[in-house]
Amino acid sequence: MRAPDRLRLLAPLLLLLLLPSSSLSSSPPDVRESVGELLRRLENKRPSSSVQVAAAHALLQRLLPTHHSSFRFEIIPKGICKQNGCFHISNVNGSNSDGAEILIRGTTAVEISSGLHWYLKYWCGAHISWDKTGGVQLASVPPPGSLARVDGEGVKVERPVPWSYYQNVVTSNSYVWWDWRRWEKEIDWMALQGINLPLAFTGQEAIWKKVFKGFNVSSDDLNDFFGGPAFLAWARMGNLHGWGGPLSQNWLNQQLLLQKQILSHMVELGMTPVLPSFSGNVPAVFRKLFPSASITRLGDWNTVDGDLRDTFNENSPPTDDPKYISLLGAAVYKAMSKGDKDAVWLMQHYHTFDCLFYNT
Ligand SMILES: *[C@@H]1O[C@H](CO)[C@@H](O)[C@H](O)[C@H]1NC(C)=O
Ligand SMILES: *[C@@H]1O[C@H](CO)[C@@H](O)[C@H](O)[C@H]1NC(C)=O
Repeated sequence: MRAPDRLRLLAPLLLLLLLPSSSLSSSPPDVRESVGELLRRLENKRPSSSVQVAAAHALLQRLLPTHHSSFRFEIIPKGICKQNGCFHISNVNGSNSDGAEILIRGTTAVEISSGLHWYLKYWCGAHISWDKTGGVQLASVPPPGSLARVDGEGVKVERPVPWSYYQNVVTSNSYVWWDWRRWEKEIDWMALQGINLPLAFTGQEAIWKKVFKGFNVSSDDLNDFFGGPAFLAWARMGNLHGWGGPLSQNWLNQQLLLQKQILSHMVELGMTPVLPSFSGNVPAVFRKLFPSASITRLGDWNTVDGDLRDTFNENSPPTDDPKYISLLGAAVYKAMSKGDKDAVWLMQHYHTFDCLFYNT
């Protein structure tokens, strides 16, 4: 195989998230209604207030341990906000405060954490970002007992959109080298920035291995299918098969364990993790095992040889017949609903890759 020398082209491509992303009030009523229904469903699945408050406190303990008693956190019902959730920052009054000076109330632990960030930024002049853009700079935060008071009734900040999405399938190129501590730091960062809809792609190969085993696909067959750790993003998108692999069972187990930690931390903070779903991309041996199945081999992706897949990340579909595309979509959705009747399909797609095909 030749070297995938055009892989680096992936970075600047634009993403399109097919969710109503701007203000919902400008959407047609039926979209608004179904999004409202979805939001209610997600709310019912969130952990209890005490779990979320504890998660926000644990985050504060990691971020600013000297001030772990300076803040009081509370979950508030969504009705207090206009539409999409909010946080409220005010003073803790009276002598019964146990050292707490500032009260931050929010509809989820993400809202509380982003309220904490807001206070540290606008009242204390602190800076919290990725390491490459300055990292965590908290030296300007006054010592406990001297935190700046918030005027009057305090400050309420409304979330302008229901979802703040984060991550990209190709960022797994960096994440694959991360341990739990690094992940925990990133998820804390997400909460502080108000992100509530993060991609959670770690460990999926361990699940695919089990699923394919049920179809009589052997471990050897999968060695030509899964990419190596540095190439998972492309293997997952169906851009290449087997490049840099195989993956050891030890690695699969360790990634699955990591994913369980990642998901628990996202969920306890009140986030909605986005999990991978089946896109129709199957190992080559499927042709032999199921000779009557309709399996399409798409064109070569960039310069890399050899793949077999059925959806179109940076690939063009084999036909532009809307009927084919619609049938394919229906099949994917049906399979998802079979596993989870409340499943919601979130599509993240590089459809600008082939401008002529998609007429963009
Ligand atoms: C604290 O006192 C101020 C001024 O009296 C009041 O406006 C504010 O609501 C009080 N905060 C809380 C959390 O009770
Ligand atoms: C796997 O192989 C067994 C034994 O040959 C067979 O009974 C079973 O139907 C196969 N499973 C699938 C999904 O084809």
